[in-house]
Amino acid sequence: MPSINFINENINVDVNPGVSILEAARSAGIVIESPCNAVGTCGKCKVKIPNPEERRFVRSEDGLHRLSKKEQEEGYVLACRSYAAGDVRVLVKDYAKENSSLKILKGGNSFSYERSPFIAKKLSGGHTEVYGGGALLGKEQGDTCKEIYGVAVDIGTTTLVAALVDLATGKEFASESALNPQTRFAQDVLSRIQFAGENNGLATLQQVFIDALNEMINSMAKTADLNTEHIYEVVYSGNTTMLHLACAEDPVSLGQYPYVPKIRGGNHVSAQGLSISPFGLIYLPPIISAYVGADIVSGILVSHLEEVKGTTVFIDVGTNGELVLARDGKLAASSTAAGPAFEGMNITCGMRASKGSVESFHVNDDGSCTFKVIGSNADNNDDVKATGICGSGLLDIAGELVRTGVIGKNGRIQADGYNGELKKNAAKKDGKDIFSITGDVYLAQKDIRQVQLAKGAIRTGIEMLLAHFNITASDVDSVEIAGSFGYHLNENSLISIGLLSPAFAGKVRFVGNTSMTGAVAFLLNTGFREKMKELVKRVDTVELANDPAFERIFVGYLGF
Ligand code: FES
Repeated sequence: MPSINFINENINVDVNPGVSILEAARSAGIVIESPCNAVGTCGKCKVKIPNPEERRFVRSEDGLHRLSKKEQEEGYVLACRSYAAGDVRVLVKDYAKENSSLKILKGGNSFSYERSPFIAKKLSGGHTEVYGGGALLGKEQGDTCKEIYGVAVDIGTTTLVAALVDLATGKEFASESALNPQTRFAQDVLSRIQFAGENNGLATLQQVFIDALNEMINSMAKTADLNTEHIYEVVYSGNTTMLHLACAEDPVSLGQYPYVPKIRGGNHVSAQGLSISPFGLIYLPPIISAYVGADIVSGILVSHLEEVKGTTVFIDVGTNGELVLARDGKLAASSTAAGPAFEGMNITCGMRASKGSVESFHVNDDGSCTFKVIGSNADNNDDVKATGICGSGLLDIAGELVRTGVIGKNGRIQADGYNGELKKNAAKKDGKDIFSITGDVYLAQKDIRQVQLAKGAIRTGIEMLLAHFNITASDVDSVEIAGSFGYHLNENSLISIGLLSPAFAGKVRFVGNTSMTGAVAFLLNTGFREKMKELVKRVDTVELANDPAFERIFVGYLGF
């Protein structure tokens, strides 16, 4: 039986015929990122067979993602599409290094409010009674009344953010952020629902989440020098699928019509497995629908969308674009599958927003290009080598190339669009036109298609919400862009690529991680819980997936 040796981990896995290198790694608990869940489209699971002699023992099936000639010559293969027919040694990328510099937005716009936490404590006869919502949860030896803490968590499809909060004062002791370890198995919501339905997938996804959250809780408690036994409530804010996975609730119904969620939120669930007080609880804020979750309800709470006068469009841009349109207190919500392009996933030189990624880009009047690389402190990025493009960089590059004419209305790279210094960036790769940014970092024609699909989906969602109210983009007073990814975006680029209507110029505000600030508000003020539970009942849910008009409108917004 062939054996695969994973060099970094020095682990040997004997494989039966038909077991891919990715499956072998997963069986040994070795991380190989597979955002497309082994469909063969993302190209992110590539591993190296360093010894040329051993490469003849590796059989690779074609995937939609083609490794470049150079990568193939260097011995790279797609782990999800490659099989060992003899003993081979495999080199897996050091993800920890890349993810350790991940740029994650912890906070967002907030607002002041009274504190009325769910948890209270009372000294009684030499011990402390702990109450939740007036009900006795448990007793502790001695007087622990001053130690009364909670945790708020933003469970993003890609990132996790947590904050440790003093329920008595509202003070935030510490906060942590990390990559959501579920991304190792599947990048976007739909492939994660699919993975959860496969053998033991749901338990795997929940356990890696719980392990990551416990690590964050223990690290924050250490930073704040307090005992996790005195953490009594944890608020989960995230989209509906993330809440199902975090609570080990089977999400399969979210992936099929009529998309009925098992979790509606507005309630407490057991906190078993979390390293908090033995009688601690998890609070789930209310959700709106299968695809508009508690993260958006947190955003509505923070932005007071039900109270603002006029018309506001609220957008949480990510692999799943979630949208709310508020018009004089009346709300409608929807979501569209933008796909992993914004996370740099199915982009040739795509990567997450971590050290080495191009995060912003501009074409100057003379055609020369200015760009910023994450981790660099030098104006010309000399101190950090650019190794890829993250979501915000991708939209800037596309926006600037559309603005300058390098990319035509149909999305094709145009040889005659290069003027002045820009000519230096014109190049070819394997005979195809590319836009070269620096070194090995470039934008390929197929990447532009991914941008068109992602921005077309979001724009169509916005237009269909406007149609739901029988208004147009010019009737909109303000646009709020939320989310970790959204924060690094540039209004001009969003308008240049047509993700936003030109009528939104000058009306766009980036409100940051409102899922997180909303979660803290739910933790510290129980009044918001009842208020939002009532409000979600009055929100119109505009289902786009089954609306025959979606396809027609979407096709109309694919061009630039
Ligand atoms: S996981 Fe292998 S190509 Fe996506």
